[in-house]
Amino acid sequence: MLDSSGNEVTLFRSKLANGRWGFVMVPTDSGANSCVSGAAVTCTATESVKVLNGDGTVIDLSTVDPQVPTIDIHAGRSPARVVPRAWSTGRMRRPPGSGEDPQDEPARARRSTIMEYQQLAFDRRSTRGYLDRPVPRPLIDEIIEVAAQAPSSMNTQPWHVHVVIGEVLDRIRTGNTEQMMATGRPNREIRGHANYEGVHRERQKHVAAQLFEAAGIPWDDKAKRMDWTMRGFRQFDAPVSVIGCIDRNLEDSTEAYFDLGQFVYGMVLAAWDRGVGCVINGQGILQSPVVREHAQIPDDQLIVITVAMGFPDGTFAANAVVSHRRSVVEIATYRGFDD
Ligand SMILES: Cc1cc2nc3c(=O)[nH]c(=O)nc-3n(C[C@H](O)[C@H](O)[C@H](O)COP(=O)(O)O)c2cc1C
Repeated sequence: MLDSSGNEVTLFRSKLANGRWGFVMVPTDSGANSCVSGAAVTCTATESVKVLNGDGTVIDLSTVDPQVPTIDIHAGRSPARVVPRAWSTGRMRRPPGSGEDPQDEPARARRSTIMEYQQLAFDRRSTRGYLDRPVPRPLIDEIIEVAAQAPSSMNTQPWHVHVVIGEVLDRIRTGNTEQMMATGRPNREIRGHANYEGVHRERQKHVAAQLFEAAGIPWDDKAKRMDWTMRGFRQFDAPVSVIGCIDRNLEDSTEAYFDLGQFVYGMVLAAWDRGVGCVINGQGILQSPVVREHAQIPDDQLIVITVAMGFPDGTFAANAVVSHRRSVVEIATYRGFDD
């Protein structure tokens, strides 16, 4: 997206300090994660902020009703959203058959600023090494808002998230680790499984081997493997942890866990789309009473999962691991088709 002076910017819609909806506009520099590296310019909807929409039209944000929590900045079927330039070059593939006039500037801008869903799904990886850089709250707000568009059983939306950073997160890391070391046993609020077996164990071992190899951990080096496990207890030293809960009165509803899972995947994709990495993990809530105490989670919510979040450390080799996926042939069974 371009601002009225023609500079490339990222626009986040977010709740401003005064409680009204407004916009945070961030200059997009070159380089990874550039969408958040520039100084944020906060614009209330009373200021005249013009943005060039992907279809070439100009939208004056001052004309947008600040009470309306949604604004449609769309170009055709494609949302006018900017992703870090490093992500939109090289790894971006032009969708087959999307022929376009090279002189058509708006179309080119649109293509270069949109990460197609398929590309996003294929590109995303779990992030287990993070930069020591805070994630701006408006950005987290936006990520959660995207996730909240997930479908849910009967639209019950049984999810809650608790976003923790700083000292609160540090106390959780310490308590989770200390309790695990002292007891050697998880104390989670949800039913877990025993050790995986058969194909599940094989897949678990495969990805673990990939991660250990990338991290330079020999399979038989117990001390280094322990270090790795402890990193998990510490939420991989991420700057943010998002604890995912469901309403406790739906504890027996399998659908509620399914619903939260969809929410969480939506959150992880929305984060990745904005240059923010995540790893969904159970390790960070193995001692759930500790998490409940420090995050002050109300009793009527059940702690199910957590998501470590932050800007990926490009030098952390395990972040580059691409885990294996089963093929469609292995996954899908078709009946009643002619072929
Ligand atoms: C419910 C759930 C729990 C997970 N728990 C952990 C965990 O405790 N520690 C960890 O390192 N990764 C954890 N993961 C991440 C998976 O290992 C990862 O998604 C999987 O290996 C596929 O890799 P990818 O996310 O890079 O595609 C978890 C993922 C899910 C969905």
